[in-house]
Formats: sequence, C-alpha cells, structure tokens
Amino acid sequence: MPPIPTYKNDGIGRLHGRVAVVTGSSSGMGRAIALSLAREGAYVVCSDLWPDASPDGFEEDKHIPTHEVIANNRGISVFHKCDMGRTNEIWALIDFAVEKFSKLDILVNNAGLWLPLRDFVEETDEMWDSMMGINGKGCATSMRQAIKQFLKQPIDVNSGSRGRIVNISSSAGIVAVRREATYAASKAAVSMLTRNVALDHAKDSININAVCPGVVRTAMASTNFRDPKIISEMQKGTPWPRLGQSQDIANLVVFLCSDEAQWITGQNIAVDGGFTIGIPL
Ligand SMILES: NC(=O)c1ccc[n+]([C@@H]2O[C@H](COP(=O)([O-])OP(=O)(O)OC[C@H]3O[C@@H](n4cnc5c(N)ncnc54)[C@H](O)[C@@H]3O)[C@@H](O)[C@H]2O)c1
Repeated sequence: MPPIPTYKNDGIGRLHGRVAVVTGSSSGMGRAIALSLAREGAYVVCSDLWPDASPDGFEEDKHIPTHEVIANNRGISVFHKCDMGRTNEIWALIDFAVEKFSKLDILVNNAGLWLPLRDFVEETDEMWDSMMGINGKGCATSMRQAIKQFLKQPIDVNSGSRGRIVNISSSAGIVAVRREATYAASKAAVSMLTRNVALDHAKDSININAVCPGVVRTAMASTNFRDPKIISEMQKGTPWPRLGQSQDIANLVVFLCSDEAQWITGQNIAVDGGFTIGIPL
C-alpha cells in the first residue's frame, strides 16, 4: 500500500469544510473512511455503538478513538452514539450533525452486522431480524433522513450535488458465498436500495453509490483472519495476490465523495481484488 497522506486542514483538502457522518466509525473500514475523509478536510461526525475500537481489530492505534485521532491531527471531528438498529437514534444522529455543523454533505452507511459462517438451516429468525434490521432497514432509514436534509440545502457550487451517500454493501450481495445466506440477502438489499434511491433522487442532484468490499482484514472478519485454513480459502477466492485492507475501501469512498465523482450515481462498485470476477484456478 502507498503511504497514507497527511491531514490537510489548510483549505486545500478535496473535501475541505464538507460535513460527513460515518456510521460504524470506531473500527475497521468505518475508521479508515472517517480518517480518510478528515485527511481531505471534511468535518466528520463519527458514529458507532461506542467510541472505542473493537479489541479484535488490527489497527495499531486502536486504543485511541477515531474522533480523537482526527482531533490529534488538527482535524475536526466529534463522536455521537447511534445504534443503527434503532430508528430514533438514527434520526437523532442526522439531527445532531446538522445542529452541530449547520448542514450535511456526506453520509457513509458503513455499520453492519455479520455473524460467523453457518449453513442456512442453522440460521434463526432472530438472526434475520437483526441483520436485516441493521444492514437493511438501518441503511434505508438513515438515507431517508439524510435526503430530507439534502433537499433543504442548495446545490453545492463545487461538488455540483446537494449531498452524497455511500453505502458499504458487500461482494456477498453480488455473488453467492457459502454459509452466509442472510447476511448476503441483507447486503443485496443495500445494493438494490442504492440503485433505486439513486434513481428517485438523481433529479435532486443527490449522488448515491455503494462500495462492495471483498475479504477485508477487520475485527468483523477477525475469526477468519486468525485461522490459517480459512485465510488460505479466502486467498484462493481472491485473484489478486493479497487480501483487502480497510484503506482499499476508504480510498474509493473518498473519490465517490469528491467533486470529480459528480456524474456517478446508482453504482455498486466492487473493491475486492477480483473476488466477484470468478474463482481463480
Ligand atoms: N470485513 C469484511 O471482510 C467485509 C466484507 C464485505 C463487507 N463488509 C462490511 O463492511 C462494513 C464495515 O465492517 P468492518 O469489516 O469494518 O467491521 P468492523 O467490525 O471492523 O467494524 C464495524 C463497526 O460497526 C459497528 N457496529 C456494529 N453494529 C452496529 C450498530 N448496530 N450500530 C452502529 N454501529 C455498529 C461496530 O461497533 C464496529 O465499530 C460492514 O457493513 C460490513 O458488513 C465487511
């Protein structure tokens, strides 16, 4: 990976002064996304169940909450607790961002629930409700609240948009992967919501896209990444010679939030080392 650039708080960042909400920002991809947006000068509302990173994560500085890492580097960030399974907390999150920074430019729906691999017959209705609730309904609710706010705002002269939404879906929402049926269904819901909502609101100059990660080394996947047999299986399914890192995902999210991405909407873009192309021999 190339070195991560330093923070740009001097007005030259690509996202200088844009207000961003990132859900699930304490660990993994959400953390990398929040840090990357802040590096480009965005003001970031970090949101999660709690500010502390998961102890199962692989970040070297995981003892420091994401919003504090940003503040320590002269960026602007606050933490606001939000359980993406609770509608009232999602409404409060969007309200909080607007009250704090007077507008909202970017919503990144990254928080998600995945449960360790098992055959469909061993899954339960409770698993369906929690994964569909957090991954599917949580994403829909936050998009709707963000769009209501975007519609109150003028089109930004630089970005050409009223607002940007990036949903973190999954390669599992594109191709069938054994032993994660309900998770895959919830991510397919995120991917299709992305297309439909983008279609409804393109006329309003609101961009809505999704990033579909492949296998990425985070707390969520830590049980897989600590098992050499599963690592070898994951590598067999990934044509590129390495597995994914959170920064791979964050790099595309930053681009989708940038002025250069104005004419991109309704897309599900895989960042997966070729996982969704086909199985390499
Ligand atoms: N790691 C992978 O291989 C992989 C692959 C494809 C997609 N994804 C998706 O990427 C996104 C980020 O996952 P990650 O791998 O970075 O995992 P992670 O465990 O490192 O981080 C997930 C974060 O979401 C938070 N979170 C969980 N439930 C929440 C809730 N109800 N409300 C608010 N926050 C909540 C957690 O506290 C955690 O900080 C998820 O949507 C996941 O489904 C992950």
